[in-house]
Amino acid sequence: MTGPSPFPSPRLRGEGNATSAELVARVVRPEIRALSAYVVAKAEGMIKLDAMENPYALPGPVRARLDAALSHVAVNRYPDGGADAAKAALRQALGISDRQAVLLGNGSDELIQIITSALARPGAVMLAPEPSFVMYSMNALYAGMRFVGVPLSADFSLDLPAMRAAIEREQPSLVFIAYPNNPTGNLFAAGDVEAVLRVAPGLVVVDEAYYAFAEASFLPRIAEYPNLLVLRTVSKVGLAGIRLGYAVAAPEWIAELNKVRAPYNVNALTQAGAVALFADTGWIAEQASAIRAERARLEAALRRLPETTVFPSQTNFVLVRVADAKAMFDGLKAQRILVKNVHGWHPLLANCLRITVGTPEENDLLLAACTELCR
Ligand SMILES: Cc1ncc(COP(=O)(O)O)c(C=O)c1O
Repeated sequence: MTGPSPFPSPRLRGEGNATSAELVARVVRPEIRALSAYVVAKAEGMIKLDAMENPYALPGPVRARLDAALSHVAVNRYPDGGADAAKAALRQALGISDRQAVLLGNGSDELIQIITSALARPGAVMLAPEPSFVMYSMNALYAGMRFVGVPLSADFSLDLPAMRAAIEREQPSLVFIAYPNNPTGNLFAAGDVEAVLRVAPGLVVVDEAYYAFAEASFLPRIAEYPNLLVLRTVSKVGLAGIRLGYAVAAPEWIAELNKVRAPYNVNALTQAGAVALFADTGWIAEQASAIRAERARLEAALRRLPETTVFPSQTNFVLVRVADAKAMFDGLKAQRILVKNVHGWHPLLANCLRITVGTPEENDLLLAACTELCR
């Protein structure tokens, strides 16, 4: 064959002779190029205690209700853009007042993204305690918002004087408070969160991902604070696979956030599933209470191990400090038990592991392995 091919190589399709790598370097923001994509650890054949999932399957009757609902979904059609039936089911199950509005997301991760992009004016600041849920600062970075982290006290409580000073200095448009906090597991004092709500000049998101395992909630208190949005997810209560999060706030906030939402962000199977799953919530409360009981047993047993500090938890995981987190993590992994090594995430988390509460059998295996490794 002679002459140039009529089909230019994709490598050369950009400007002039630039390669894809050169084009990427030219146009993709440097802070994005500097990132690594989030890697979800492979867990096949492992006891999975790394991702705060509920270890229990759906109870039989709930599973049957879900299966029946899903079998009728018209998957050839786009989902209901407003997700009205799913929202109504959540409102009913959670007793959400008519004076508040609800927004659904593809997991609360998507809602964090929606909130951040709606508030990311040039120069705007996002503020959160640190260490906390990593996706807050990641979303600030994606949206081009400046992130200000305020270190927690050594006992993981909110450092209120430092929070107050940072809020006055930075005037953040957006504050995130995980209540209870991930990865530390503790519930901040309600009075400290109220103080933040009173001084913050913009929106305060109280992220209650772990509400089912905690003793307190700001959901009934939204009417008291015009700047409060409560964020939740169904991921930790047995439904991580359906990817559903919800935000509850004054209608004025939700109306603006709704403009940033993709039209069909919650798929039809998830919407139908939510209606079936939230028709009653007794099963969620029962499983959560079993997990809380196991958490207490796990905490007590871990406390008996040498050189191990167990931090109080109001979540479905336990944060522990051990002599050598990497050695313990590797040792557990060798026994096919996967936990999260959070050493290196923040100085306050030195030699810490985050262990999700599993079934009694899984917890027994974990405890036996930890005891062996601590010898
Ligand atoms: C505090 C907090 N918020 C939000 C999320 C995200 O949950 P979802 O599965 O709904 O995206 C997590 C998950 O770990 C979390 O810990």
